[in-house]
Amino acid sequence: METPSTREHWGTRMGFILAAVGSAVGLGNIWRFPFQVSEQGGSSFLIIYLAFIIAIGLPAMLVEFTIGRRSKRNPINAFKKLGHGKWSFVGVICVITGFVILSYYSVVAGWTLQYTAGSITGGYFDDPAAYFGAISEGWVALGLHALFMAVVIGIVAMGIEKGIEICVKLLVPAIILLLLMLMFYGLTLDGAMEGVEYYLAPDLEVLSESWLEILPAAAGQAFFTLSLGMGAMITYSSYLAKDDDLVADSGWIVGLDTGIAVLVGLVIFPVLFAVGIDPGEGGPGSLFIGLGGAIAEAPGSNILGLVFFGTVLIAAVSSAISILEVVVSYVIDNFEVNRLPATLGVGSLIFLVGIPTAFSQTTLTFYDGVVADLLLPLGMALLVVFVGWFYTDARDELAKGLNIAPTSWFPNAWMWHVRTVILAAVVLALVLNAIGAYETFIELLTAGEAADVADHVHDTAIDLIEEP
Ligand code: TRP
Repeated sequence: METPSTREHWGTRMGFILAAVGSAVGLGNIWRFPFQVSEQGGSSFLIIYLAFIIAIGLPAMLVEFTIGRRSKRNPINAFKKLGHGKWSFVGVICVITGFVILSYYSVVAGWTLQYTAGSITGGYFDDPAAYFGAISEGWVALGLHALFMAVVIGIVAMGIEKGIEICVKLLVPAIILLLLMLMFYGLTLDGAMEGVEYYLAPDLEVLSESWLEILPAAAGQAFFTLSLGMGAMITYSSYLAKDDDLVADSGWIVGLDTGIAVLVGLVIFPVLFAVGIDPGEGGPGSLFIGLGGAIAEAPGSNILGLVFFGTVLIAAVSSAISILEVVVSYVIDNFEVNRLPATLGVGSLIFLVGIPTAFSQTTLTFYDGVVADLLLPLGMALLVVFVGWFYTDARDELAKGLNIAPTSWFPNAWMWHVRTVILAAVVLALVLNAIGAYETFIELLTAGEAADVADHVHDTAIDLIEEP
């Protein structure tokens, strides 16, 4: 069992911020964000997403930080430590969510692995769409999934702090620099401005008509990209030794994560429009097909591709670590096993759960939907109720490091915001998403045969693409 004196902690405040940024910045920003934007109506989604990040995401991150720093425990044990053992079930939901996320996250990260290697060989340069079809489902995808999990298991098993701290210090600047370069390149392409307009020009009519439809997806994306709703930020902040200003820390983390996502949009939409791909049809493949195609056309494709997909890969690793760490820290603390067997066991199980995903993008989309639309908002809603009504000392925890009294206006205002605006928004998103999921489920039940046919057509198409 862990004791506070043997518990690991971050070396520096910067180390914590960077590790949290490493967790937040990942496939959510570079792979998931662009296709969410395109599925949900372009600029209207961007506006609602940004509003949600500022009004809900940032203060919600403080909900997790105040739980983690005060309890210094993993998400399941944290509740008992704070005197509310009955709430441990929320931690259980967090751990289950982590399982599901990592199982498909690793499959997508596997694609990135393949594209990193494919940049060296030039494999995807001739026909980016066919290449994606060939590697994204089937045995290749399974092998890549295994390889990525092996890397993540290796890092978490060794203990992660030094590795992560050093990695992210190089990485975050590298990501930003690269994306800026790619953005300038993309903007020079013919037709790029259409993409910029699609992404940035607000359409107030669409916005006022469909904000209620966009909101649930924007909420899911916001939680996913900020690593909220499954205790990753509880776990990371539980390694904080000193009482620094949590508000400033979360400002940095949220600001960097959001800035990088917005920048990714400025790269990918101009490129998609220039290449003539309808962004609404790209789905999970749009990053690989669209950007892969653009990189193939650019001068110095090999190096450009290697650096870009390599960066995406490392960003994916530093996020995946934070997901596995939640489950592993729980197993270590509660089952009295060492880090190595715990990591191997949990990691292998997650690999097994991910096998169907490696063979079917329909499964991937399903898992991704369940996580971002249901499990993360559910986890967040429960954490919000806990902090709002049960763990009212959260105010004192927030005030520490701010050099103000817990009774002053700021912690109180935050608490009221948590109890009203955040709770309302999270519950609304959850209910709307649940209705949407129910409708899809009924549709699938009644259209079971139609779905089989669609699957068959899809598989045949892939076969045809694979055949030269
Ligand atoms: N935020 C990461 C990304 O954008 C993914 C991630 C890491 C995550 N930890 C999480 C998502 C915890 C939800 C919950 O790629």
